[in-house]
Amino acid sequence: MKIAFVGDVVGKPGRLAVRSLLPKLITDSNEFDAIIINGENSSGFRGITHRIFKEFIRVGATVVTTGNHVWAQRDVFNFIDNEPRIVRPANYPDGVPGRGFTVVTLNDGRKLGVINLAGQLFMPSFDNPFQALDRILPQVVSETDSIIVDFHAEATSEKIAMGWYADGRVSAVVGTHTHVQTADERVLPKGTAYITDVGMTGPHDSVLGIQTHLVLENFSTMLPSRFQAAEDDIKLCGVTVQINNKTGKAESIDRFQLSLSQDFPASDRS
Ligand SMILES: [Fe+2]
Ligand SMILES: [Fe+2]
Repeated sequence: MKIAFVGDVVGKPGRLAVRSLLPKLITDSNEFDAIIINGENSSGFRGITHRIFKEFIRVGATVVTTGNHVWAQRDVFNFIDNEPRIVRPANYPDGVPGRGFTVVTLNDGRKLGVINLAGQLFMPSFDNPFQALDRILPQVVSETDSIIVDFHAEATSEKIAMGWYADGRVSAVVGTHTHVQTADERVLPKGTAYITDVGMTGPHDSVLGIQTHLVLENFSTMLPSRFQAAEDDIKLCGVTVQINNKTGKAESIDRFQLSLSQDFPASDRS
């Protein structure tokens, strides 16, 4: 089973990258059984709407994952309970809307489990993600051995620790949230593919997708400023993971970064 995981999509530029570059990633020699997109920053630069979620599904997403910004657009409360293909961190307190994991049936009948977890370090107060994984896994494993964990976290230590914790128990632990792709992808000894962060899909001529001058103003004066998504140097970032069909173990993990060409008409950037 071959999976593509696309990192945090930021605003209109990120959505443009998904629309324009995802088809380039999907070629005759590079077909995917499932595509997972982290959409926590896809509306403006925070949150997701139903329209955007449906757009991701239309362009090929199998499951959309989120993170700490999942609740930023109120529209999310209108659909998150009814759409089995969107997940939010499983370690939110009990009773919040949505689901922390999902098992989807792919076109050929095989099943894929997707679990979303958030870190505790330098993040809002989530419950313990390691214990959350222990609670969830038996439910997912009863349906499939092919399991992807989106670990949405800030600290590299916590993310690497999660990779080792899950090694041999899931197919892949892929990090999101920092918006900076790391060069540490590997398959861990017991067969779990791991990367600390898959990187951002959006404008890289920016500070994590936000217009640079607004962030500099904020850091240098400490006065609040209205952040807006940047526009230039748009890239689609993520990883592909090959999973063994019989064992659910990962065989390989590879990073990708695709750039939108400079001459892409600005009028299409909406
Ligand atoms: Fe993000
Ligand atoms: Fe985040």
